Amino acid sequence: MRPHIICHMSTSIDGRLHPSRFTRAAPGISWDVLRGHYEKVHDSFGADGWIVGRRTMSEMAKGTERKVAEAPKLPREAHVAAPRGRKLAIAIDPSGRAHYGKDNVGGDHVVAVLGEQVSDAYLAELREDGVSYIFAGAGGDDLAGAMEQMAARFGAGKLLLEGGGRINGSFLKRGLIDEFSTLIFPAVDGVAGAQSIVDYEGPEGDRPGAGQTLRLTHCETLEGGMIWLRHAVERAE
Ligand SMILES: NC(=O)c1ccc[n+]([C@@H]2O[C@H](COP(=O)([O-])OP(=O)(O)OC[C@H]3O[C@@H](n4cnc5c(N)ncnc54)[C@H](OP(=O)(O)O)[C@@H]3O)[C@@H](O)[C@H]2O)c1
Repeated sequence: MRPHIICHMSTSIDGRLHPSRFTRAAPGISWDVLRGHYEKVHDSFGADGWIVGRRTMSEMAKGTERKVAEAPKLPREAHVAAPRGRKLAIAIDPSGRAHYGKDNVGGDHVVAVLGEQVSDAYLAELREDGVSYIFAGAGGDDLAGAMEQMAARFGAGKLLLEGGGRINGSFLKRGLIDEFSTLIFPAVDGVAGAQSIVDYEGPEGDRPGAGQTLRLTHCETLEGGMIWLRHAVERAE
């Protein structure tokens, strides 16, 4: 059993990823109010934690690499540190590139999802920081297996998938998104090629959403003209 996974993202009307690039708020509309909707909706889900890709986690955690002297040889087995009932901050980081320096991001307990090829020194650094970790197969790309471990080892029943676009695309391709929660700013990015909120990188002609359909379950206009959409993802049996 894996957790229920909701992909929760904010975007411009053209589906882009970076709010710093969007057109500003119209006169009389507060940008802070618009931005504030994201966390409010996040909190309203009452999820057990959130998942991000390595790039997004590196921006959030802001840690720097430490060299752990004489790291012991460690088995490639899951390590559950001390979640202590906190929400979970889950990083999909097959190569072990994110650094933390503490056991939490914004108070939420960090769980790194790794590939087995990461170094012993990196595992020792995570253990020193109090970070938990699991392995998503040898290459770190068994996301379905990783999500099953999140349920079995951490009791996660509901998780939010919060970007960036590349990790969202990978979850979509693997049929691991159960619902989309999308906040649309009254704004546009407008530049060709700018990253979008679902940005699967795969072979030409691949369709990551193949075999899946979206059904609108909720549509609400929030203060300032932000639109909140919810879509259930249905899969052909
Ligand atoms: N609008 C919003 O609400 C929002 C939300 C979140 C993030 N963001 C922004 O999004 C940007 C980052 O987005 P991004 O799409 O470039 O990166 P991302 O999704 O955050 O991270 C991508 C990385 O995840 C790792 N990864 C692990 N397994 C993967 C898999 N199966 N498929 C793809 N990647 C996998 C790879 O790390 P390695 O390179 O180490 O292999 C890959 O480079 C940031 O600038 C952040 O600020 C915006």
